[in-house]
Amino acid sequence: MAQACEKTLTLEEISVPGYEKIIRVLNREVGLHAIICIHSSVIGPALGGIRIYPYPNEEMALKDVMRLAKAMTYKSLLSECSWGGGKAVIIADPKEDKKKELLSAFAEAVDQLKGEYICAEDVGCSPEDVLIISKTTPYVVGLPHKKSSGNPAVFTAWGTFRGIQSALKKIYDSSDLEGRKIAIQGIGAVGFELAKLLFWAGAHLIISDLDQKKCLELQQLTGAVILSTEEILKTKCDVLAPCAMGGVLNSCTIPLLRCLAVAGCANNQLLNDSDADELASRGILYSPDFIINAGGLINVSLELEAEGYCPIRARNRVNRIYDQLMVIYDIAEQNRFSTHKAALSLGDYRLKYQIGKRIEPPYFHHASLS
Ligand code: NAI
Repeated sequence: MAQACEKTLTLEEISVPGYEKIIRVLNREVGLHAIICIHSSVIGPALGGIRIYPYPNEEMALKDVMRLAKAMTYKSLLSECSWGGGKAVIIADPKEDKKKELLSAFAEAVDQLKGEYICAEDVGCSPEDVLIISKTTPYVVGLPHKKSSGNPAVFTAWGTFRGIQSALKKIYDSSDLEGRKIAIQGIGAVGFELAKLLFWAGAHLIISDLDQKKCLELQQLTGAVILSTEEILKTKCDVLAPCAMGGVLNSCTIPLLRCLAVAGCANNQLLNDSDADELASRGILYSPDFIINAGGLINVSLELEAEGYCPIRARNRVNRIYDQLMVIYDIAEQNRFSTHKAALSLGDYRLKYQIGKRIEPPYFHHASLS
């Protein structure tokens, strides 16, 4: 049922089985068309970023936000963050349409949900945009101020590094990176940081990016070998780290892989769930993306704790990704199914029995800052 919140703002529920709440947000006056999706708040309030993207139609936006919100539920469950899974998409071109009025109208909708959904930055949405949103609602994290958690990419890179170590431990019974060949596809915000960590730990790097300038810069720093975007997937290596876009593991690419493990930060690496079985049948160890790339979520969510943000606690919690992945590898091995299935099964179990349910409310420290 449509609910008029302000003269021009409407929040309308879209019912989809398996999802707790999906809301279409409209404000024609400022050209706002957004969808807020709460997949589950069983464990805690839903936390997830705002993606601003010019989807060709609402159907595609809805599909994307549902997929992303569900992934957030599992990311939080598996990283023991005690948050629910949520996400928002604003159907707009971040370069053209991202006006203050649009963001403020969206913030009004978030505010109407009274903390059921806590938003943060994502693709197309910067910390500065989040700052504008925070003028209207306190239910937001990742603001650019002195008590903020800062750049999530650094923590995502550290978590991915720990994940690569866990994969090596499983394969070689040693997490030592000395002399190991690691191929990184995509050396953007996370991939670049990851490459530096791997370099200092003694790895041989093989890199690829659409942006040759970035490749050359990293080559100068680390002596990395540069390959084309096609070659990187076929290169012989210990670990392939996809750090660019989703869907990279599919029926066309998996037969070409010559790595022992896939462990990278990119979201939604598997095109289909069944691709995980294909990897397993080829004997390639896969570190589920929503566990290995949880560093950014773990980091930002510490802003909401009573003690406030602390980088040391953030680092220590991100460190645990190593052990969390070791558990998943063992479950998969014992049950003879894929690591992806092992991760989903453990997530479902935790959700069913509400393991790790949040007891403390979130603290919005920034709301008291000027
Ligand atoms: P980014 O946009 O800074 O970097 C992506 C890089 O991949 C760019 O340099 C781009 O040129 C390159 N690229 C795109 N297509 C490519 C291809 N076909 N072959 C080789 N390189 C290609 O993004 P960021 O922040 O580094 O994120 C990377 C991935 O990790 C994304 O999938 C993102 O969703 C995911 N992720 C990022 C987090 C973060 O904290 N930034 C947190 C969790 C997941």
